[in-house]
Amino acid sequence: MCGIVGYIGHREAYPIIIEGLKRLEYRGYDSAGIALFDGTDLKVSKTKGKVADLENISEKEITKTGNVGIGHTRWATHGVPNDVNSHPHTSNSGDLVIIHNGIIENYESLKQELIARGYTFKSDTDTEVLINLIEDVKKQEDVKLGKAVQIALNQVIGAYAITVFDKNKPEEIVVARLGSPLAVGIGEDEFFIASDASPFIEYTKDAIYLEDEEMAIIRFHKGIKIRKIKDDSLVDPYIQKLQLNLEEIEKGGYDHFMLKEIHEQPKAITDTYRGRLLRDQAIIKMAGVEDNMKKFLNANRIIIVACGTSWHAGLVAEYIFEDLARIPVEVEYASEFRYRNPVIREDDVLIAISQSGETADTLAAIKLAKSKGAFVFGVCNVVGSSIARETDAGAYTHAGPEIGVASTKAFTTQITVLTLMALRLSRAKGTITSSEYRRHLLELEMIPGKVEKALESDAHIRYIADIYKDASNCLYLGRGYNFPVALEGALKLKEISYIHAEGYPAAEMKHGPIALIDENMPIVVIATKKGHYEKVVSNIQEIKSRKGKIIGIVTEGDEQVKELADHVIEVPETLESLSPLLTTIPLQLLSYYIAVMLDKNVDQPRNLAKSVTVE
Ligand code: G6P
Repeated sequence: MCGIVGYIGHREAYPIIIEGLKRLEYRGYDSAGIALFDGTDLKVSKTKGKVADLENISEKEITKTGNVGIGHTRWATHGVPNDVNSHPHTSNSGDLVIIHNGIIENYESLKQELIARGYTFKSDTDTEVLINLIEDVKKQEDVKLGKAVQIALNQVIGAYAITVFDKNKPEEIVVARLGSPLAVGIGEDEFFIASDASPFIEYTKDAIYLEDEEMAIIRFHKGIKIRKIKDDSLVDPYIQKLQLNLEEIEKGGYDHFMLKEIHEQPKAITDTYRGRLLRDQAIIKMAGVEDNMKKFLNANRIIIVACGTSWHAGLVAEYIFEDLARIPVEVEYASEFRYRNPVIREDDVLIAISQSGETADTLAAIKLAKSKGAFVFGVCNVVGSSIARETDAGAYTHAGPEIGVASTKAFTTQITVLTLMALRLSRAKGTITSSEYRRHLLELEMIPGKVEKALESDAHIRYIADIYKDASNCLYLGRGYNFPVALEGALKLKEISYIHAEGYPAAEMKHGPIALIDENMPIVVIATKKGHYEKVVSNIQEIKSRKGKIIGIVTEGDEQVKELADHVIEVPETLESLSPLLTTIPLQLLSYYIAVMLDKNVDQPRNLAKSVTVE
């Protein structure tokens, strides 16, 4: 949700924090702020808007020197995005300063207690309550900052990653986490704090990821001490070597991260199956599946939980698991699943899909399934993320960092992993013939080249985008494996262009959306040759007779839909089960170009965040 950066060491903190916040802006970008200790006093600068706005105002407001500082980029939960509600927040005395990612659920009752003790509040945030609670504990109990943070956090209900320091003791920063990620980069006598490792990757490859309910006291020249928040026990720091490169998190010549990430898909899909798909030997090797084969083979059913685009990947997986491996699958929104008292048996397998590995609802669904004894498997992109650590086993997608808020390569690589799993299980169960199995391996190996080919329609898609960019509604239709693709196509358009769009199963159109169709309505129909082609063609006829504008996503060389549609975009031929990996590509590009033509902020659409760490 929000992005956190902190620094303590021998360098100037300001540029490290500002550059770090820019890399974390995908996490939230409605306001930004920074607090620096300049050698004598605490300087705070904050504003509604982007990190670039913060740079402009901090130019005038503060001296940018100092070796200790914290910064924040916000996605508002409590209190509208404005200057006052922006982080950092200071305590009533002005001594303590905090930034926070998460939600303090019992903030109202804590606030009333503090008000009764004479505290006043400038903002509407839960965060300002927390920093004053820490100050109150520090004074009442006469303890050091670390202890005060610990006592205060034990009174808090909710989720947080926090970074706090005291201007009277600026050689020390205290951090803590419960439910929101926090990494500490360990340099040569310097420390970096961030929501993910991207802000400090050029300074150090050594990082500690705090676990839930852990806090750390970081002291310049003295090092880091990690403790359990609940019982104060010391924890041995586990230092990870990061694999991330700086180039991977830069735009590399593209106008937007989203476009870069769309074009990275051939490589990302190859990286996902590399070392797993061994076609010569007709083998799929996935350690997480192999080690738990019995659990999968004895599964009563597979429950897939996810949110957003990852949920759409789960829907595609439902088709492929049932079709090839003959395992019953249910796909659930994590937020619904966790709160509806679901029936979960010990012989259920739960697959959690998440790009970030930090989505709060997905994490909670995992915990619920584990508590009922189900085996939980994670499909995540971010290595070492909370979901990757919380699950019993898993498979990474290896898509590389995805920065654009609208998910693209995460989706196709999730489908790739899930396809590999379904194939491996169908082989083990004997539900697929050897020739079908080999055919799938061969076709899957050819997908990156075919995605490359699909990307060649770029100019044609731009032309179509220009025609329909002013539409106020759009319908996306697909059947079978391509129904989830229709949902994903509509989501992409909504997210970044703010045009209302709906995805629907093509046949279901007759039960409602058909009433919306007139000569102003663009309708994107996925009508590839394999699958239910003839049925989709009938649906296209129905649209045509109501004068809707048809954009067909068709297999190369298709003539029938070309005759009927206003426009067609071709994708190479493949197996029906793999077609979502190709049909998704033009839909991503169509949304991208419409949003660019409408002058929208493609990488940071309004009100959205890349990683939703609150429920
Ligand atoms: C947010 C993002 C979406 C993403 C969803 C689930 O809404 O904007 O792009 O699909 O969260 O995120 P996850 O990281 O769990 O895949």
